[in-house]
Amino acid sequence: MERRQNAKTRVTTSVALAAALVRGGEVVAFPTETVYGLGALALDARAVRRIFAAKGRPSDNPLIVHIGDREQVRELVRKMPVMAERLMDAFWPGPLTIVLPRAAIVPDEVTAGLDTVGIRLPAHPVALAFLRAVGAPVAAPSANRSGRPSPTSWQAVKQDLDGRIAGILKGPRSHVGLESTVVDCTSRVPVVLRSGAVTLEQLRAVVPGARRATGSDVARGRSPGLKHRHYAPRALVLVADAIPARIPKGSAWIGIGRAPRGFVVSRSCRSARDYARALFHFFRHCEAAGIERIYCQPVDAVGIGTALMDRLQRAAAGSATQTG
Ligand code: TXA
Ligand code: MG
Repeated sequence: MERRQNAKTRVTTSVALAAALVRGGEVVAFPTETVYGLGALALDARAVRRIFAAKGRPSDNPLIVHIGDREQVRELVRKMPVMAERLMDAFWPGPLTIVLPRAAIVPDEVTAGLDTVGIRLPAHPVALAFLRAVGAPVAAPSANRSGRPSPTSWQAVKQDLDGRIAGILKGPRSHVGLESTVVDCTSRVPVVLRSGAVTLEQLRAVVPGARRATGSDVARGRSPGLKHRHYAPRALVLVADAIPARIPKGSAWIGIGRAPRGFVVSRSCRSARDYARALFHFFRHCEAAGIERIYCQPVDAVGIGTALMDRLQRAAAGSATQTG
């Protein structure tokens, strides 16, 4: 039977309750160090379909499978390349998703019909406690409605999904603030499909041949995430150091250091890390405040800066096409 869309969402700090709901086939949001995830039993196709229904997400974009114990990888994959083992040794638990050849038990609903599966062992203590209490792999996209920024707090999840999911496991604000690095380990060298807190330089220190995805990787359908429209605020997003002498009405600013005068909403960040942590929350805040233009200071593409610039440029590109 289809459940009612207005069913009550349990907001809880109880890992045991959240895990019991998921074991019962329900969808529950949970904190991770990157962003909040929207979890359901990965090996239960019906439960996974409920994630797509709650989010309003196109079903041709695959989900990441989250595990609480590295041993769980074995049942999910057909092959385990040595480079993947090395990356797990170096970066798990942590903000790294590793794409591997999938085993037959992983439903098509999770992989969007691909022959691969993305797997992550998160570092957040509440995420780990929850995944261990579930005791089975949990498929989870970011816990936002499709077209909204990834949530970095339980309140943001509630804003998007209250009444649409069985529960929200409360935790602190996500301290990375941007989604995990996604690295494909199904060919000769690791290929970064999405940048994140684990940088290409860090990956290369472990597997020297690692490279960024190119246009032809995208064309071959290797990275379905890249062809989907990424989140873009309703406001016009401008990624530039320069700001106009006369700041237009309804403008916001985010960057490192002191905010220039004349903005109705602004966020001064201490560092690129702080900027990354604040960005999605800031976009939500701007949307609620009816902001029309968001000036985002660019950062150097080193460390988290690469992922931060990636999200800023996607937001800017999307907002420019919306406003024509
Ligand atoms: O930090 C994160 O990764 C968060 C937390 C909850 O873990 N999750 C997340 O999920 O951002 P989502 O669904 O919003 O983004 C998953 C990305 C998409 O770009 C998707 O295309 C890609 O990972 N992905 C998942 N499985 C894949 C696969 N088998 N092959 C290629 N890309 C895959
Ligand atoms: Mg997402």
